[in-house]
Amino acid sequence: MTADPAPRSAPAEGPQAATGLFVTFEGGDGVGKTTQAALLEEWLTDAGRTVVRTREPGGTEVGVLIRDIVLHHRGEVAPRAEALLYAADRAHHIETLVRPALSRGEVVIQDRYLDSSVAYQGAGRVLGRDEVRDLSLWATEGLLPDVTVLLDLDPAAARARLDADDKPFDRLEAEKEHFHARVRAEFLSLADAEPDRFLVLDASRPADELAAAVRERVQTLLG
Ligand code: TYD
Repeated sequence: MTADPAPRSAPAEGPQAATGLFVTFEGGDGVGKTTQAALLEEWLTDAGRTVVRTREPGGTEVGVLIRDIVLHHRGEVAPRAEALLYAADRAHHIETLVRPALSRGEVVIQDRYLDSSVAYQGAGRVLGRDEVRDLSLWATEGLLPDVTVLLDLDPAAARARLDADDKPFDRLEAEKEHFHARVRAEFLSLADAEPDRFLVLDASRPADELAAAVRERVQTLLG
């Protein structure tokens, strides 16, 4: 639970205003979000906190079905359809899983959220930042994270990590270098626009150093 009882969601009068802590991890593919989310979960759980660790797309049963379409459909998915699918996943996920956990005072650690839509669909697919952001805010009744950890890494270095994993690329991962360069630039610009919400970390640093920086910020928010 946050020290400050004021809801951090916008609009503040939205249903089930949050009282827990909402932490999201963002960044390109292969930057190490999952590792950092797991380390944070372990630390908070050891400290006796109740943690819900989740992700988008695919944090619910409905979301798993949507994830399969957006990531594994063979062939084209129109950019606006793709944006709506991510927003649909998000709407269901926030209403049925995230808001209830936050209203119970729990810590939600989430791999990707609306900033991914703005970066991938807004900048990557060139749909436009404001439209895509507004769509997500409509879908979630305005819920914003308390803190968003942006793991920033040169797309070429991230790609080398994915290659080393030896897993087949999904639809988004398979996009060309300039797509991922636009995604990275958009994430950084989002972080510039909201410096209080974002913690930007150089993802080429060792995992334990990154984890310590994340813990420090979360600790401050938990009071
Ligand atoms: P992710 O779950 O991080 O992939 P993986 O588990 O395979 O590492 O994300 C899946 C992909 O979906 C990723 O390439 C980014 C993309 N994505 C969007 O394009 N828009 C969105 O709103 C979200 C949440 C993800």
